[in-house]
Amino acid sequence: MTKQTFLDLGWQPIANGFIPKEGQEDEFSFNLQVAFDDETCLVTQQEYVAPEKMFHKDYAYRGSMSLTMVDHFQKTAKLLSESLPPSPRVLEIGSNDGVFLNNWDTDNTYAVEPCFNFAEETNALGYRTYSRFWNNDLSKDILAEHGSMDLVFAANCMCHIPDLQETFQAVANVLEDEGLFVFEDPSLARMINLNSYDQIYDEHAHIFSVIALKNELERVGLSLIRVDNLSVHGGSNRIWAAKTTSEWAKYVHISVEENITYEKLLGLDNIAVFDKFSSRVAQSKQDLLDVLYRCKENDQKVISYGATSKSTTVFNYCGIDDNLISYITDTTPEKQGKLAPGSHIPVVAPKDNSIADDVNYVFLGAWNFVDEISKKEKAFIDRGGKFITHVPLVRFV
Ligand code: TYD
Repeated sequence: MTKQTFLDLGWQPIANGFIPKEGQEDEFSFNLQVAFDDETCLVTQQEYVAPEKMFHKDYAYRGSMSLTMVDHFQKTAKLLSESLPPSPRVLEIGSNDGVFLNNWDTDNTYAVEPCFNFAEETNALGYRTYSRFWNNDLSKDILAEHGSMDLVFAANCMCHIPDLQETFQAVANVLEDEGLFVFEDPSLARMINLNSYDQIYDEHAHIFSVIALKNELERVGLSLIRVDNLSVHGGSNRIWAAKTTSEWAKYVHISVEENITYEKLLGLDNIAVFDKFSSRVAQSKQDLLDVLYRCKENDQKVISYGATSKSTTVFNYCGIDDNLISYITDTTPEKQGKLAPGSHIPVVAPKDNSIADDVNYVFLGAWNFVDEISKKEKAFIDRGGKFITHVPLVRFV
């Protein structure tokens, strides 16, 4: 395996490491470099941050903070149950605050969540939740205690785990012979098309192409059987896999070949496309700084909407602080009253649930929720307020 670095996003903090106002000594930072593995075609970080630094009892990201995601997981659960036996045994890896779990009976549903604050919440709801990191040992413990699973599900979690071989092997250990392994993560094709380099931060150890996942899954006896292209999280793929020996693997859905053909046309199996992406990222930084400095020179007040992990990457890569963006609004209680990682821009609760009257421009830290936000912030739009986004190009919306 040869990992070739193609992008350097500079020194970055823990993307969800919000800092109490009273300050924090020694904020951790690391050099975020992204590489292409020419053996498996995996796009992956050159060096990974230790999981314990990111996922712990004070983890701040709540999946249920947007109606879009609550609705998405309701529909996903309904879709999956159509392919499962009655009263299926379900395991979710990375269950966060239970936004997906809530759609299943507590009796046969199990969960894994290393962030203790959320494991405590979902245990209290009646879902047996293991507050441990997913690995071979845990899969064997779950198998011994509850038997094999009809569905293993994970959303925005598989791409968090550095060792994919152990991760997928552990899934295979606990999966019923005819069970389904379904997971959703940001799509590399969408990231390249949208120039959304902010999909890359400490937690996203990898950004998956379908090409790379097929290679990684096959190594542990799992077959990729279907791919759904999703709009959530700025463009994700829902990957369906099953044991290579199962009936499922005999009828591979056309979407697998379609996605692989498309990714090859984009060039995701060769580093050249990533070198070009890297140049576009540098241009995006320059364009965003130009816009923000022009706002500043013209006494225009700019804030940011959504204290996202993505915006941690943007602000720290571009060197943006509260000189350019006055504050960030976010509905998540765990983030409010704190300082954003690295940039130290204050994070506040939205005042009266809307954008304050003295704000001229709003940077879309949560650009992936632009539809939900536009509906909510009609008053701001009606009074001539404009959003700024960097995806796919820096522009006013
Ligand atoms: P998300 O885009 O899922 O973030 P990440 O980059 O960390 O994966 O998170 C959206 C964030 O924006 C989350 O903290 C909740 C917040 N948010 C608001 O404050 N208001 C809103 O209307 C929406 C939709 C999200």
